[in-house]
Amino acid sequence: MTILVTGGAGFIGANFVLDWLRLSDEPVVNLDKLTYAGNLGNFASLQGDARHVFVQGDIGDAALVSRLLAEHRPRAVVNFAAESHVDRSIHGAAEFIETNVVGTFQLLQAVLGHWRDTLAKDASFRFLHVSTDEVYGSLGADDPAFTETTQYQPNSPYSASKAASDHLVRAWHHTHGLPVLTTNCSNNYGQLQFPEKLIPLMILNALAGKPLPVYGDGLNVRDWLYVGDHCTAIRRVLEKGVPGEVYNVGGKSERRNIDVVKIICGILDELVPGSAHRPHEKLITYVKDRPGHDQRYAIDTTKIERDLGWEPEVGFEEGIRRTVQWYLDNTGWVQGVLSGEYRKWLDTNYAGRVAAA
Ligand code: NAD
Ligand code: TYD
Repeated sequence: MTILVTGGAGFIGANFVLDWLRLSDEPVVNLDKLTYAGNLGNFASLQGDARHVFVQGDIGDAALVSRLLAEHRPRAVVNFAAESHVDRSIHGAAEFIETNVVGTFQLLQAVLGHWRDTLAKDASFRFLHVSTDEVYGSLGADDPAFTETTQYQPNSPYSASKAASDHLVRAWHHTHGLPVLTTNCSNNYGQLQFPEKLIPLMILNALAGKPLPVYGDGLNVRDWLYVGDHCTAIRRVLEKGVPGEVYNVGGKSERRNIDVVKIICGILDELVPGSAHRPHEKLITYVKDRPGHDQRYAIDTTKIERDLGWEPEVGFEEGIRRTVQWYLDNTGWVQGVLSGEYRKWLDTNYAGRVAAA
């Protein structure tokens, strides 16, 4: 038995692969294009581990995906591959359309061909698509949280491209019978997150004594999901989810951005008592708001709790402390990312160990 993970060198995918191989001996074929967000240094602990087969390539390359499916015959495909940062989608949406929409389409086509022709429509096969709560749009302060039946109202090029991919996945089930599962989760945080997203950016800027740029009034609200809990949810959906169903995954931890930043500052004041930048809160700088900035996201987790018995285990206060501590403890990873050295990991550390694409 094997699973194929796409986008597994990014933040959530890498956490998923590491957790998977910690908990089981089932091999993982990891197909990742290695954009700026992909980092093979995430797998330093798996060097020489034959259970992890890394292939550099694009989910939009249907011939490559078909070849990998024929060669490895995975029992499931878990699709993390995407362009994932809202701010980048505002400055240039082309790659978001290319990977999130066209890439997902090509991946679905290759998987469908394999499932229909080689696996004779094996009912136990699964295609799990990892998506976001951002497809549901923006909530007001008193609106009920997103459920699986909330109308799609994506507002950013990123969320629009993810919404499109969700619709394709749904259609491949409805029309072709492909056994798909979709998860829509809230903002993840934790180890290995690229420091363009709010939490790692604030931690690393604060450590360096740089301004902490808070967009607008800082009162936008996100629900924060610890990445380890998200990985548990994906494994649960893969194991017990009903094909064709959608599951919302949330951390039950709604926080205003400014409060998140202040908590990080407080933890750093405590953990780095000798810092010249204490109190770190003085680095907070309000900056021009993000265009089209969604006000609030919130997830109703009733369905996944009721049907699959999953709920988040790590509360925000514990998760954020663990996360800050991880960035303090892993200076090698941090320096590699900040200097750009991580992009050379493939040549320097992985030469000869990467399956040919
Ligand atoms: P990430 O940006 O850290 O990683 C994305 C990975 O996909 C990278 O390794 C990148 O190299 C790879 N990739 C990009 N284009 C590719 C392509 N065409 N073919 C193959 N690989 C490609 O993203 P993440 O934060 O780990 O998010 C993973 C998934 O979860 C995404 O689908 C994202 O939309 C979704 N999601 C993320 C969050 C979050 O808070 N990070 C929240 C909800 C949903
Ligand atoms: P982000 O981590 O980019 O995730 P998303 O936009 O997918 O929710 O941003 C989280 C929140 O933090 C969002 O409301 C935008 C805000 N933000 C800042 O205030 N400053 C920043 O530098 C960044 C990156 C985000």
